[in-house]
Amino acid sequence: MADDGAGGGNPSRARDHLTNERTYLAWLRTAVNVMALGLVIAKFVHVGGGRAVAAGVILVVGGRFLMGSANQPALTRTRQVYDAVASRYDQLIAPVERLLVGDGRRWAAGQARGQVLEIGTGTGRTLTELPADPAAVGVDISLGMLHQAGSRARDAGAVLLAADAARLPLTDASIDTVISTLTLCAMPDPAATLTETRRVLRPDGRLILLEHSTAGSPVLAALQRALERWTIPRYGEHLTREPAALAVAAGFTLEHTSSHRGGLVRRVIARPCTSE
Ligand SMILES: C[S@@+](CC[C@H](N)C(=O)[O-])C[C@H]1O[C@@H](n2cnc3c(N)ncnc32)[C@H](O)[C@@H]1O
Repeated sequence: MADDGAGGGNPSRARDHLTNERTYLAWLRTAVNVMALGLVIAKFVHVGGGRAVAAGVILVVGGRFLMGSANQPALTRTRQVYDAVASRYDQLIAPVERLLVGDGRRWAAGQARGQVLEIGTGTGRTLTELPADPAAVGVDISLGMLHQAGSRARDAGAVLLAADAARLPLTDASIDTVISTLTLCAMPDPAATLTETRRVLRPDGRLILLEHSTAGSPVLAALQRALERWTIPRYGEHLTREPAALAVAAGFTLEHTSSHRGGLVRRVIARPCTSE
């Protein structure tokens, strides 16, 4: 099942409207920047108004091009990035999978109990490892990725849902296990996602994370941070997020954490804090 969230009350149309407004605002900001830069250039470089505005256009548009889609609302950019990559995702992830994931998906799926929700299910690579009964629910923001996940979901008897993991169309305390594999790195707002995850988990439910993270080697970690200067603005991809710290900040208690592949991969099991 794929639900685009355009049902009664139309929250998705309201979100689209907001997204459009933000896009107009981004372009308005660009236009204002062009004019301001034009004025500065005209004042200090002493060139004519026309040339100054042209230089402003080149600087601002060039800057936007170099920064990729950095000015777009983050969720729209994430959706677009994964829609664009969806048909090649399995091919692209294969070397990463061999290098970093190993038996990680099987480990994550092996922790699943009761009703399972997978956030950022992507092309459904973890869905196939999950128990078929009760049917797991795979949520993703990208219709392209969900389309690719279709046959895996059918084989696994799972249900697919198009939604933002930070705003799940699920009732409180309705899920026993939430799984996330290689997904927090791509989430525009991991704190909101984990808080939402806590809302839908039963008090005795568990959060299972298999995520990449900061390498133990300072050299590799510095390289990851350098790469992030490009991957974050361009693809919304964070290489050094700490899943355990994010889970604790969102109100979970850690039951298990382990570090793999030189710290590049973390496995986390957490439970919602019950002391509130
Ligand atoms: C790197 S892929 C990982 C896919 C899959 N979990 C795997 O292990 O191969 C990240 C996925 O998270 C999805 N995603 C990112 N932000 C999301 C959000 N806020 N809500 C739902 N899905 C999201 C992306 O569309 C993408 O499919």
